[in-house]
Amino acid sequence: MDACMQLKDSPYTRLCSNKSILTVNGKFPGPILYVTQGDTLIVDVINRATENVTIHWHGVKQPRYPWSDGPEYITQCPIRPGTKFSQKIVLSDEIGTLWWHAHSDWSRATVHGALVVYPKEGDVYPFPKPTAEIPIILGEWWKSDIQAVMTQFLANGGDPIVSDAFLINGQPGDLDSCSKPDTFKLKVEYGKTYLLRMINAVMNNIMFFKIANHNITVVGSDGAYTKPLTSDYIAISPGQTIDFLLEANQNPNHYYMASRVHAVAGTSSNFTTTAIVEYTGNYTATPSPLLPTLPASDDTVSSDSFTGRLRSLASREHPIDVPQKVDKNFLFTLSINTFACPNCTGPIPGQRLKASMNNITFVQPRIDILQAYYNGIRGVYGDDFPKNPPFPFNYTGVNVTSTNYRTPQNGTEVRVLEYDSTVEIVFQGTNLVGAIYHPMHLHGYSFYVVGMGSGNFDRERDPLSYNLVDPPLQNTIAVPRNGWTAIRFKANNPGVWLMHCHLERHVSWGMEMAFIVKNGKSSDAKMMPPPPDMPRCG
Ligand code: C2O
Ligand code: CU
Repeated sequence: MDACMQLKDSPYTRLCSNKSILTVNGKFPGPILYVTQGDTLIVDVINRATENVTIHWHGVKQPRYPWSDGPEYITQCPIRPGTKFSQKIVLSDEIGTLWWHAHSDWSRATVHGALVVYPKEGDVYPFPKPTAEIPIILGEWWKSDIQAVMTQFLANGGDPIVSDAFLINGQPGDLDSCSKPDTFKLKVEYGKTYLLRMINAVMNNIMFFKIANHNITVVGSDGAYTKPLTSDYIAISPGQTIDFLLEANQNPNHYYMASRVHAVAGTSSNFTTTAIVEYTGNYTATPSPLLPTLPASDDTVSSDSFTGRLRSLASREHPIDVPQKVDKNFLFTLSINTFACPNCTGPIPGQRLKASMNNITFVQPRIDILQAYYNGIRGVYGDDFPKNPPFPFNYTGVNVTSTNYRTPQNGTEVRVLEYDSTVEIVFQGTNLVGAIYHPMHLHGYSFYVVGMGSGNFDRERDPLSYNLVDPPLQNTIAVPRNGWTAIRFKANNPGVWLMHCHLERHVSWGMEMAFIVKNGKSSDAKMMPPPPDMPRCG
């Protein structure tokens, strides 16, 4: 065993109020795991709490070994209180920053942490060696219990209540007087360069981030190197990671780093959280740190342009392998829908919000899909997830009112992929109940983001502008509001792999589906058998 993760309830105080939260080893954010590229790690997950939990290794491909991937009722049954599950984490080519988080209910709000992957012995970073490396985890804090927040959200049929604070490394920052003394502080020495490993562990929002007076240089994202990208701000989706260099090259002083909600739903929430970059040495500091000017919360141009500027490093030492030809083309609509709900008291009386992909709202099965697939248990899922929207329409048009479009089917449907087939998925945002970003995440793979655009995807015209040379390799990508994003990958990892929106409320509303990737012919192209201690359902 390389690490032990004990799930337990621990008392925490934030915003001058106390509560008990679900933690790993009593820590919030959870412990950081350090590994080397290509490692296999054994983690004993022991549930000493009172609720069911599973742990997912976000961005770890787990080649041929979906058994440790973690999503509840997709690849495993929950780890029940008083039981344990020994997870084998199989790394391959991932490098840089990934993370782990709970993948059951809304427990990932407090159950998450960084997974740092160092280069192999003898390999060097494709950028100057930093003086220090520091994880920066963006999170959220609700004064009330997170399961209560979820239960209330599910009952009232509308959006969840917004958290009481956004956090940097577990702290609300010093704009809130309660938490001032605990604000996260990064000490830097003039002339030195630091590698910041940012993870967006926020539940329901894309975030902007900026450091006053400093540019940053992005060098990696989602466990892959990128071409250096210099910018004065970052836009980061829930689920995504961004590695960037900070050069301490300004007048010695103290400066705020700040993060703010990219309030894509159109409501202008002003939630800003701060931490401090403080130069060491003797100087007279300004009375309070300088605040950066963040992009406005509804600034979709800044978020799309940041996302669209990421590129794979694609160097001789770090080549990439973008599928140039595609065997299977899919168009998946991402929609927010409504359902009749006579007793719902939420924002739309008599209705509740739901979400769907290709008009199917995912319903959790009673046992996990992986176990059903592996053991040939029938009646758990169907293999008919549509390749294309069943009702083509003007996806991003206004006033789409037909009930066909608005009310999706419930289902537990997967799409089966042949081993080694090359796949293109175009995610198409829609404007049914409203248009919003969807940070789409695929388990078991990283994918190349070959194109994005606004409006309806045009199968004739849009592929002409794809980037098949150095597209970024991601596991999570923000599909623009009322727009589309095209991704490509080679289905060379057999197993059952979940794909979903990483906004927690959209997952709860059913914006998820799974792929089953079949075994190949050779023995190293087949799924490995399950471990003996897989958690049992029931
Ligand atoms: Cu980061 Cu399925 O999740
Ligand atoms: Cu979504």
